Amino acid sequence: MSATRKAHALSFKVLAECSTTKARVSKLILPHHEVDTPVFMPVGTQGTLKAMLPDQLEEMDCQIILGNTYHLGHRPGPELLEKAGGLHKFMNWNRNLLTDSGGFQMVSLLKLAEITEEGVKFESPHDGSTMMLTPEKSIEIQNSIGADIIMQLDDVVHSTTTGPRVEEAMWRTIRWLDRCLKAHARPHDQSIFPIVQGGLDAELRKKCAQELTKRDVSGFAIGGLSGGEEKSQFWRMVSLSTDHLPGDKPRYLMGVGFAVDLVVCCALGCDMFDCVYPTRTARFGTALVPTGLLNLKLEKFSQDFRPIDENCGCSTCSQYTRSYLHTIAGHKPVAAQLITVHNVRYQLNLMRGIRKSIMENTFPKFVQDFMSALFPSKD
Ligand code: GUN
Ligand code: ZN
Repeated sequence: MSATRKAHALSFKVLAECSTTKARVSKLILPHHEVDTPVFMPVGTQGTLKAMLPDQLEEMDCQIILGNTYHLGHRPGPELLEKAGGLHKFMNWNRNLLTDSGGFQMVSLLKLAEITEEGVKFESPHDGSTMMLTPEKSIEIQNSIGADIIMQLDDVVHSTTTGPRVEEAMWRTIRWLDRCLKAHARPHDQSIFPIVQGGLDAELRKKCAQELTKRDVSGFAIGGLSGGEEKSQFWRMVSLSTDHLPGDKPRYLMGVGFAVDLVVCCALGCDMFDCVYPTRTARFGTALVPTGLLNLKLEKFSQDFRPIDENCGCSTCSQYTRSYLHTIAGHKPVAAQLITVHNVRYQLNLMRGIRKSIMENTFPKFVQDFMSALFPSKD
């Protein structure tokens, strides 16, 4: 029914596949820009990436960023966003946006959220009144925000939850997807991604992926992971999820952004990632480097006149020393800005390196070099 309409909202083409892992490079074309995948999407919660401007992101060739329905629905709110002509225009970001549906943020941020079949009920942090985020309401808000990719409202349980609640949440997520698809008013320029849930239960995840695949959607997300479960379980669930999703559509692994996880999960067939980690940790004075982390607040950097990373090429590394950043870190908003610029650049560079190696069929060597830098041998 929507073959031509969908062609405008999203197209996806796999350009190269690694011969020994599930890693691939693709071109994702969205209404506001094209996206080279695997891609890391920096998170701009409330219409701004904390401590970075759209111009700076564009200069680094960032092609897509994330926003949150929960936050944007409160402020500026859907009416104002409609008046402003959507979030792209309002925040002066001309490239792609993806919005999360709100339920996850609500459940993770608010202690008092209660989930029923109708939706997520919560006490407004603003005036204490009871509010309800339904699948329809989430889509209505996301339609007014106008992001290129929007997420279904899902029923998320903590990744270590076991028992019948996990299965209930999985089936409810599928029912809520159908309500989201029905409520969607802008299929011509916004694509809804469903979310694979099912906790750490292989059968439930498989079933969920199979059910979601029956729906008319252009891409998929994998959710409910990276919440404190064992790494081996996390990777197993990611791998199983990608195994049961179609190869010709993008796969977005939600809330994952540690460098090592990005590398491993690219190998497991994921194409898109987001996480607040690189920007949040920058505000606490920590810079990401190939050998791990630099906590610039530590005394040992007080007289270190090298840049954060000689090979980085970001505007912070070409102009400022570790010593200077050490002096201002933790006190000055400008330190947060400078380290955020570096960390976002680090993530984008990492993804560029992954893509290049897949294109050149040297991804296994890339993984090996990456791991050796992060976990050097003793001698
Ligand atoms: N962000 C990280 N994990 C999730 C998830 O499972 N669902 C949603 N909606 N957002 C997420
Ligand atoms: Zn840098």
